[in-house]
Amino acid sequence: MNLMKFRWILLFVIVLLVFWYNYMTKLAGSGGDVKSSLSLPGYVRITPGKMDQFLDIHNKQCALVSSSGQMLNAGLGKEIDKADFVIRMNNAPTQGFERDVGNKTSLRVVSHTTVPWLLKNEIHYFQQSASTIYVIWGPENKMRQDGKGPIFNALMKVAKKYPNVKLYAVTRKKIQDCDNIFQNETGKNRMQSGAFLSTGFFTMILAMDICDNIQVYGMINDSYCGQVKHKRVPYHYYEKSWIDECRMYNAHEKARHGGHRFITEKAIYARWASQKHVYFKNPSWAL
Ligand SMILES: *[C@@H]1O[C@H](CO)[C@@H](O)[C@H](O)[C@H]1NC(C)=O
Ligand SMILES: *[C@@H]1O[C@H](CO)[C@@H](O)[C@H](O)[C@H]1NC(C)=O
Ligand SMILES: *[C@@H]1O[C@H](CO)[C@@H](O)[C@H](O)[C@H]1NC(C)=O
Repeated sequence: MNLMKFRWILLFVIVLLVFWYNYMTKLAGSGGDVKSSLSLPGYVRITPGKMDQFLDIHNKQCALVSSSGQMLNAGLGKEIDKADFVIRMNNAPTQGFERDVGNKTSLRVVSHTTVPWLLKNEIHYFQQSASTIYVIWGPENKMRQDGKGPIFNALMKVAKKYPNVKLYAVTRKKIQDCDNIFQNETGKNRMQSGAFLSTGFFTMILAMDICDNIQVYGMINDSYCGQVKHKRVPYHYYEKSWIDECRMYNAHEKARHGGHRFITEKAIYARWASQKHVYFKNPSWAL
């Protein structure tokens, strides 16, 4: 009888030990989570299964290369490639433009509207340039993760086909944060004012999230287009049938619906630049 009792107690102790062990290993695991809380919860990796990995990079010296025609004939490629980390936007190519824009691409911030282009050229983007990090932003109806977001679904297919590709989505919360920042800076509700944030805006925020020091190349300031003798350059350096950059910016600034407030955004960057380590080159901004 006593032996029976002893066995029960022993069993009880073993069960306790098992629970304790599980608990301790979970704690050790959450030690890992403490580290990942230093990572950036605004950018989540697109992976089959549980999406709980966040962008976890930090760089001292970043180059943010705009897609503006200002980059043409500037010969800044070598200088750009010297940066620790080179950030580009959408599908802005380097091939054929190396002398002006460099040939290194560490990360691309990509609009949901450009994702079909990446898919059409998947060999280039996801095999030849597989070391590049892709961060995609888009509205909820395109990026929702419940199977009803067409762009998210397409990206998930890429993640399954190319498991090594580092694909991230800007989270819904982060996009709301960006809207709040816009509203805070301008006093206008982004949506009610009929505007969409540009890829440039998300890129600037991301750069400030991951870089200590940002050198921005080819971005004009908010008074540039108002000056009589401004340079007429293509809106994008890589588009042949080109639209003048300032005409594009002015049209968008005035658009009642669906416009990007490129010029307003530039005024916001100028305020940030005076507080953080953000520098503008070609043209350079006097802050
Ligand atoms: C990039 O340019 C450097 C020299 O500027 C060269 O050594 C390197 O091979 C180039 N890399 C690619 C991927 O083209
Ligand atoms: C809005 O601006 C105020 C004052 O400048 C600042 O304290 C606050 O953090 C800002 N909020 C956001 C979401 O940027
Ligand atoms: C804006 O850019 C123009 C042309 O590059 C320059 O002349 C002007 O000083 C700049 N303004 C500010 C406030 O940086």
